[in-house]
Amino acid sequence: MQRITVVGAGNVGATCANVIAHKELAKEVVLIDIKEGVAEGKALDIWQTSSINNFNTRVVGYTNDYLKTKGSGVVVITSGLPRKPGMSRDDLIKTNAVIVKEVTENIIKYSPEAIIIVVSNPLDVMTYAAYIASNKSRNKIFGMAGILDAGRYKAFLADALNVSPKDIHALLLGGHGDTMVPLPRYTSISGIPVTAMLDNATIDKIVERTKKGGGELVNLMGTSAWYAPGAAAAQMVEAIVDDQQRIFAVCTKLEGEYGLKDVFLGVPVKLGRNGIEEIIDIKLDKAESKLLHDSSESVQGVMKLLDGMKLF
Ligand code: LAC
Repeated sequence: MQRITVVGAGNVGATCANVIAHKELAKEVVLIDIKEGVAEGKALDIWQTSSINNFNTRVVGYTNDYLKTKGSGVVVITSGLPRKPGMSRDDLIKTNAVIVKEVTENIIKYSPEAIIIVVSNPLDVMTYAAYIASNKSRNKIFGMAGILDAGRYKAFLADALNVSPKDIHALLLGGHGDTMVPLPRYTSISGIPVTAMLDNATIDKIVERTKKGGGELVNLMGTSAWYAPGAAAAQMVEAIVDDQQRIFAVCTKLEGEYGLKDVFLGVPVKLGRNGIEEIIDIKLDKAESKLLHDSSESVQGVMKLLDGMKLF
C-alpha cells in the first residue's frame, strides 16, 4: 500500500504508526496531530529507528495538514482526550465527538476511498459518529476494541495457565466498556476448552478483570493504555492491507445480526482488502445473548447522548 494515515500522534497513535512501520504495511505512514510539532517529532523519532529495526516504511508527521494524507488506503483515527482516573470512557463523549467528526470530514475530503478504523473513545459511539460523518458503507468504517479486549483476556489466561498466549483463542463481543462480553464457551487453549483447564471461579475472575482491563491501567498510570491499543489497531490494518481474511471482533453497525439493529457493537467479522468482508452471526445461548443485549442497551444509551448533541 502506498500510504496509511494515523490521526492523533498521542501515545496510541504513535504506537500504532510504529507497529505499522515495523511491519512495513505501506510505503509511507503519515502521522497527523493538532499540536504543533508533535506529529513531526514522533514521526522523525520512529523514522530514526528504521536502520536499527530494519524497515523501509517512511514515517512522516504534519500539524493538521490533511493534504499530506491524500490518497490514503487505510486511516486510523485515534484523536481525542484519553481517560483520567475516575472517568468512564463515556465521560469523553462531549469533547471527542466534536474532534472525531471534524477529523473524519477532513480525511474523507482527501481520501474518499479510505477504509477507516476508529480507536477514539467512547469507542462504539465514536465509531457511530465517524460513520455518520463519513457517509460510508459499514464495511469501510468500523472500530477497534475486540482485539484489544481479547488481548487482555488472553494475557490473563496465559498467566493463570502458564501457557503461551499464542495458543489461546477467544471470542469477546459487545461494547468497549464494562459490559463487554468475554465468552468462555468460545475460549480454547490449542483447541482444548478453557473450562477443561480452569475452574469456573478462576474463569469468572479473569472475565471480570478483562471487563475492567482498561480501567486497571488508567488507575496504574493516570492515563489510558497505548501499547496494546496501538498494536491492536495495527493488526486490523495488517489484515486489510494483506487481505488476510482474518476473524476478529470488530465494532460495526448491526443491521439485524444477533437480533440487534442500529447499534454499533463488537461482533466477529472477517477482515480483508474490502474492510469487513463478512459479519459472522453465531448462535449464542440465552445467558450469552442476554449479556450482549445488555451491552447493546448500554451503548445505545451513549449513542442517544451523541444524537442529543445535534452535531449532524
Ligand atoms: C483502553 C482504552 C484505550 O481500553 O480504551 O485501554
